[in-house]
Amino acid sequence: MNRLVSAGVVTVVMSGLIFCTSSTPNQGNIAVKENERGLKEYYKDYFLIGVAVSPQSLKTDEAALILQQFSSMTAENAMKMGPIHPGENLYNWEGADSIAAFARRHGLKLRGHTLCWHNQTAAWMFKDKEGNAVTKEVLLQRLKDHITEVVTRYKGTIYAWDVVNEVISDSPGEYFRDSPWYRICGEEFVARAFEYAHAADPSALLFYNDYNEIDPIKRKKIMKLVKDLKAAGIPIHGVGLQGHWSIYEPSESELDATLKDFSSLGLPLHVTELDISVYRKEHSRREKRPEDSNAVFSSEQESLQTEMYKRCFRLFRKYKEAVTSVTFWNISDRRSWLDQFPVSGRKDYPLLFDKNLQPKKAYFEVIGFK
Ligand code: GLA
Repeated sequence: MNRLVSAGVVTVVMSGLIFCTSSTPNQGNIAVKENERGLKEYYKDYFLIGVAVSPQSLKTDEAALILQQFSSMTAENAMKMGPIHPGENLYNWEGADSIAAFARRHGLKLRGHTLCWHNQTAAWMFKDKEGNAVTKEVLLQRLKDHITEVVTRYKGTIYAWDVVNEVISDSPGEYFRDSPWYRICGEEFVARAFEYAHAADPSALLFYNDYNEIDPIKRKKIMKLVKDLKAAGIPIHGVGLQGHWSIYEPSESELDATLKDFSSLGLPLHVTELDISVYRKEHSRREKRPEDSNAVFSSEQESLQTEMYKRCFRLFRKYKEAVTSVTFWNISDRRSWLDQFPVSGRKDYPLLFDKNLQPKKAYFEVIGFK
């Protein structure tokens, strides 16, 4: 790991992982012409349309697509605990700062993601100098320092934060996910995280964010967590529904019930990480199988995906009083996290724009409403 100091910013270069500066060459015109309306205009009376970005993507032809189509951005990885806070006294601001600067320069809204998560958090957070687990007091103090530092830095630029991500268990009989946060602090870290964030920026909207919210059992648990936090007077202002779905789910009734249930909380809902995989949904990583190599975007997948996107946006519009933002998780099929998950190296085609940044059939269904 190299440490550089430039323009008052401490930069950490970690084995090319975070600061890969190579940019994709400009691949020419996009099919939606410059003066044509983008998603953000079609949806201006409904909700913000966001996209998850990397600092690198803002240096490629994807930047023009972002400006044309989207009104909001989220940092895909650059603001997560591990990348932004790799050592106890080491913050790595470069990627996050460049995304914040792009948002300010172009007047895009910016969501912050994420202040507390069990994944992509550096191991130092949970350990003392001898490598033993830290006490609850130490861990909460570290959480407070982290949240205060990060939220203060982007005060005025980030209008909403995913404060806590994915603490609810996927197992029907278990409430909280087993994680170092939970093992060391019990449930308390969740409430504290919201309080620390609110103290650092009282005007930021604070969200709890989770996936597999279409599952009725998990949904109930997420709603219980949110209701309990509200009842205890904790500053929570909204619920983030990740929306990592597939061409096979959710059904019309599942999604309708999901949006209806969450809107009954009376809090704004953000769809925070929307993508529609062309494969059946799996929530755990697994080995590649022979059939995974056959990764073409078939016309059957295309038509199922088009129908699913149409369904999702029809229902998002139906619940527009509650849904105030819909963010896609990645920009185009050129690159998605789903190319590596749940199967490493299996290409997926989950977004509205293809590898050449051309709008897919699903795009025209999403904008083609009366
Ligand atoms: C979760 C996280 C996101 C991201 C996705 C995969 O949904 O909230 O930050 O890591 O997994 O990209």
